[in-house]
Amino acid sequence: MTGKRRLMIMAAGATAAIGVATLVAAQVPDERIPFPADYATEFTMYLEIDRIQNPGQVMRIYANDAALLGPGPDGRLADGAILVGEIYGAKTDAAGNVIISELGRRIRGDIAAIAVMEKEDGWGDLFPADLRNGDWDFAMFSPAGERLDRDLNACRACHAPLQETDHVFSIQHLPTP
Ligand code: HEC
Repeated sequence: MTGKRRLMIMAAGATAAIGVATLVAAQVPDERIPFPADYATEFTMYLEIDRIQNPGQVMRIYANDAALLGPGPDGRLADGAILVGEIYGAKTDAAGNVIISELGRRIRGDIAAIAVMEKEDGWGDLFPADLRNGDWDFAMFSPAGERLDRDLNACRACHAPLQETDHVFSIQHLPTP
C-alpha cells in the first residue's frame, strides 16, 4: 500500500469517528448545566494550583456539598456533584514570561473563564466510551456567567480516560469520607 493511500484511509477513519462524535453530541443538550451562580459563596474552594494543562494559567477549584462528601466505596462522587474550576491567567513580566514567585509558584492574574463539571444520574448514557465520563458532563462560562461556545467533546475526551478517579484530576484533594 502506498503511503498516500494509507493516509487517505486514515483520513476516512478519522472523518467517520468525528461523524459519530458529532451525532452523539447533537443529541446531548448543550445547555443542561446551568451556571452555578452562587458557587463563590455556597461551594468550598479545595485547591488552587498552577495548571498542569496550561503553563500560563492558575486554577482555583470549588466543590459543592455533594462533591465534598468525597468518593464513595465505589470510588465515585455522588450524583448532584458539581466542580467549578476558575481559570486565571498567570501574571507575566514585561517580556511576556510567566512570573514565578519566591515560593516557586505562578501568581494569579485576571480571571479568564469558569469551567464546570456536573454529574446527574443518566447523563452519560448517550456517549460512546471515548467521550463518556461516567455521568459527568462539562460546560464553560465567562467570568460573568455567560455560556461560552467551546468544543465540549474536547473536555470529555481529555477527562474520559480517568476511570480510576471518577474522571476528576484533583480527586485526591477532596476530603475522604
Ligand atoms: C487536554 C486535557 C484537558 C482538556 C481538553 C480539558 N481538561 Fe479539564 N482538567 C484537565 C487537567 C489536567 C485538570 C487539572 C487542573 C489543571 O491542570 O488544569 C483539569 C481540571 C478540570 C476541572 C477541575 C476538576 C478536576 O478534574 O480536577 C474542571 C471543572 C475541568 N477541568 C473542566 C473542563 C472543561 C469544562 C473542559 C472543556 C471546556 C476541560 N476541562 C477540558 C485536563 C483537561
